Amino acid sequence: MEERRSCYCRNNGFLLQLVLLFFFLLLFLDVPMVATAAPSSAPLNSTQVSIMKDLSALVTARWNTSDSNPCRWDGVNCSSSSSLSFVTNLTLSGYGLSNSTIFSHLCDLDTLQSLDLSKNSFANSVQQFFTSSCSMKAVLRSLNLSSNLIAIPLGDFSGFPLLEVLDLSFNSFSGGVSTQFNSLPKLRSLNFSSNNLVGDVPTSMVLSLEELVLSSNKFSGSIPKALFNYQNLTMLDLSQNNLNGGVPDEFLKLPKLRTLLLSGNVLSGNIPVSVSNVASLSRFAANQNNFTGFIPSGITKNVKMLDLSYNNLGGVIPSDILSPVGLETVDLTRNMFEGHIPSNLSSTLYRLRLGYNSLNGTIPDTIGDALALAYLELDSNQLMGSIPFDLGKCKKLSLLNLASNKFQGRLPDAIGNLDKLVVLKLQMNNLDGPIPSLLSDLANLSTLNLSHNSFIGEIPREISKLSKLSVLNLQGNKISGSIPDSISLLPSLIELSLGNNSLNGTIPMMPTKLSTVLDLSHNHLSGSIPSNIGLLNDLEVLDLSYNDLSGEVPESLVNMQSLTQLVLSYNHLSGSIPIFPRHVELNYTGNPGLQNGIENNENAPTGGKRSAHGILVIIFAIAGALGGLCLLTAIVTISYSKRIYRVEDEGTSTEEVVARIINGHLITMNSIHASAIDFSKAMEAVSNQSNIFLKTRFCTYYKAVMPNGSTYSVKRLNYSDKILQIGSQGKVGHELEVLGKLSNSNVMVPLAYVVTEDNAYIIYEYVHKGTVFDFLHAGRSDVLDWPSRYSIAFGLAQGLTFLHGCTQPVLLLDLSTSTIHLKSMNEPQIGDVELYKIVDTLKSSGSLSTIAGTVGYIPPEYAYTMRLTMAGNVYSFGVILLELLTGKPSVSDGIELAKWALSLSGSPDQREQILDTTVSRTSAAVHRQMLSVLNIALACVVLSPDARPKMRSVLRMLFNAK
Ligand SMILES: *[C@@H]1O[C@H](CO)[C@@H](O)[C@H](O)[C@H]1NC(C)=O
Ligand SMILES: *[C@@H]1O[C@H](CO)[C@@H](O)[C@H](O)[C@H]1NC(C)=O
Ligand SMILES: *[C@@H]1O[C@H](CO)[C@@H](O)[C@H](O)[C@H]1NC(C)=O
Ligand SMILES: *[C@@H]1O[C@H](CO)[C@@H](O)[C@H](O)[C@H]1NC(C)=O
Repeated sequence: MEERRSCYCRNNGFLLQLVLLFFFLLLFLDVPMVATAAPSSAPLNSTQVSIMKDLSALVTARWNTSDSNPCRWDGVNCSSSSSLSFVTNLTLSGYGLSNSTIFSHLCDLDTLQSLDLSKNSFANSVQQFFTSSCSMKAVLRSLNLSSNLIAIPLGDFSGFPLLEVLDLSFNSFSGGVSTQFNSLPKLRSLNFSSNNLVGDVPTSMVLSLEELVLSSNKFSGSIPKALFNYQNLTMLDLSQNNLNGGVPDEFLKLPKLRTLLLSGNVLSGNIPVSVSNVASLSRFAANQNNFTGFIPSGITKNVKMLDLSYNNLGGVIPSDILSPVGLETVDLTRNMFEGHIPSNLSSTLYRLRLGYNSLNGTIPDTIGDALALAYLELDSNQLMGSIPFDLGKCKKLSLLNLASNKFQGRLPDAIGNLDKLVVLKLQMNNLDGPIPSLLSDLANLSTLNLSHNSFIGEIPREISKLSKLSVLNLQGNKISGSIPDSISLLPSLIELSLGNNSLNGTIPMMPTKLSTVLDLSHNHLSGSIPSNIGLLNDLEVLDLSYNDLSGEVPESLVNMQSLTQLVLSYNHLSGSIPIFPRHVELNYTGNPGLQNGIENNENAPTGGKRSAHGILVIIFAIAGALGGLCLLTAIVTISYSKRIYRVEDEGTSTEEVVARIINGHLITMNSIHASAIDFSKAMEAVSNQSNIFLKTRFCTYYKAVMPNGSTYSVKRLNYSDKILQIGSQGKVGHELEVLGKLSNSNVMVPLAYVVTEDNAYIIYEYVHKGTVFDFLHAGRSDVLDWPSRYSIAFGLAQGLTFLHGCTQPVLLLDLSTSTIHLKSMNEPQIGDVELYKIVDTLKSSGSLSTIAGTVGYIPPEYAYTMRLTMAGNVYSFGVILLELLTGKPSVSDGIELAKWALSLSGSPDQREQILDTTVSRTSAAVHRQMLSVLNIALACVVLSPDARPKMRSVLRMLFNAK
């Protein structure tokens, strides 16, 4: 039996060999043909082969070095002369590179024409490459170092005589630009967007320059006349600087200009007339300046995308401005235009924004000619008349905003044709008649705001067909009848405002997703408050005031986990009011039959509710001998002795041996990570101190390069000898698995973990550009302008809202600017997420050093409650907001930032002093937004934990501060 089977197998093997041989021959015969077809398959010059081999040791990326011809590696292009090839182009974008020793190898590639090192982490050590001699520089034509971390003064480029394209955008180059480019006779394209360059707009480049991008720097002064000598310019971007004065009217000297961007400066005077006559110009933006006067006529003859919004332009909008065929977008929002909307409308126009002007007259009947129109905003003008029937011909409309005008009459049924409509805002007009039931055909509608008009009749029951509707606002009309039962079928509704109407009948079942507001106030609703309202777990504000509701307040409302405001005033409610958690703002005046229940027995009722809120309690089991007071002193001493956040590395010697793995587990299901992560490689990386890139209070991060070249972060838990008691490892593993299933782009999610004899390590994706602390307080703060700081705050709020909203809420033990990593200048990731889960597992063995995070971020109540709460996290978040607003660290000169800010918050003048003036002075809009964010920050750091907002509200407030 056995014998025969193996014999059979051998036969098979023989057959297989034959087949392989056959294919091999086929391949072999094909080779010459392939070789002649592709020139670069000539063998690479042997000197360059060895350079590439050396490079591959440093380029820790996707190079498949098993292929012996480097010309076939990712991002490598070669060309051949006669029988040999040479490397001409290298694209190593986003490879996680930071060690500038790579340049010494690159310098030997003296045939390189194009080098792309964008999206890496090169820092100031690249200076040497710019200044030292290097034979590659003599031949290079294109250099891209954008999106790195280079923060040096701009040097000169005389070493690059053939350079044609230079992209250094998204770094922190500083200083002024004068003669640095004198030596580049072939320069065609220069991109310095998003750096810290100051002084005048440079005009020392070669006159044949075609692209000049200087946006988002700190250039000042006026636009130099000499710029108009660059007659081959196709792109000129000076947006987001501090340029002032008028714009020379000389654009006819730039006959090839295609894109002209002047937005976000303090330019004044008239829009230059010559812009209208540059035949090639297709995009012109001058928004957010102080331009005055009229729009030059014929400006859209050539320009297809025009943005003049947020200026002080006035007069009548030229009648021909919207008519040219090919026109795409026109934005004139927030100026002082008057008169009528031009009636000649192009069939290619897809975005028209005329909001916040003083336009009058009607919407032209020709609106139906604008067949491509997708966004139409005419809000906040003095427009009148009825909404034209022909608007129904604009079948591509997805946003229609006619709010705050004087429109009257009925809503035409034709609106029901606009089946692409997502947002329909008609509030604050004089519209009347019934709400057309055809609105329910708008299958994509997400926001419907008809508030503050004079609509009559009932709410059409077909409205329940709007399965994507998330906001329905009908308040302030004359709507009667009862609320249709079908309303509960709206699966996506999060806000429902029906206040100030004439609704009667009882309150039906409400959609379960409602989360921001349910406002039924000022109607004639009767019957009792249905107890199923208590099922609206996400609802924050419930207003039932000024109705005819009777009966008792259902006990179930107490269970609404997100409720912050409950308004029951002026009804006929009776009985006693159930006891709500203290943070719920309750108003029940004008209900004579209603009695306040048992007064404020704080502990009994709130305790139970808190755990329903998921405010989980970690009890640090401290040796019983330590009394409360003693504990308090201990925390303070430890925190201060650890001096803000950097912890000296204890006990790891450079010669540490590679630790023995007890247990290595993959958490991620992602097959790319699964195949890349190698546990022994990770342990090799942590044995070498030079791989450390960050230390926080509880953790040390190492960079590890896996065998396939991709880079990961490996985090060692400091103190883990104390944390990981024998037998708790299984539990830690389980908790990490749970965290590994979280998915939110603002949270660092563990991919795998390794437990060794005396430590635990967690493996993450490597996305580290530095921490927020590094950027704010380690001399790089000028990199973070206000938009980045705002995005960081917003991303962080999203991440925290997500963590707090999990079925099992995740709290942060150590939330500070040094535990927030930056993926880019505006994408934060919350790190050290697992700490509380892991610390939780050692209830029985707790150690003092693990308590309460980093000094300056520790909410005052932790000192006596000794437990981690969501409100405590909100406090720490507030401190981070303050750091972003002030640029100051969480503690300076022994004074905590939060306390300092609170002490100044009393008067508006003093509030000004809190802000980082170098940031707040950039524009009035920035200043305004910073003040709104300051209000949010101050609400987060108030002393009483109950008075602090929930993360979800914080997120919404931040969003509204946009
Ligand atoms: C190979 O390239 C090197 C440097 O790029 C050059 O010095 C050398 O002359 C080349 N060899 C041949 C045979 O072309
Ligand atoms: C950069 O790489 C070189 C060579 O591999 C190494 O000797 C050096 O220590 C590295 N520098 C840093 C800062 O990692
Ligand atoms: C290589 O770089 C040159 C010079 O910048 C460029 O013109 C060419 O298109 C690039 N070739 C490839 C294949 O990327
Ligand atoms: C502009 O480009 C044309 C054609 O490439 C060239 O002949 C001319 O010299 C350039 N102008 C300047 C000012 O360099």
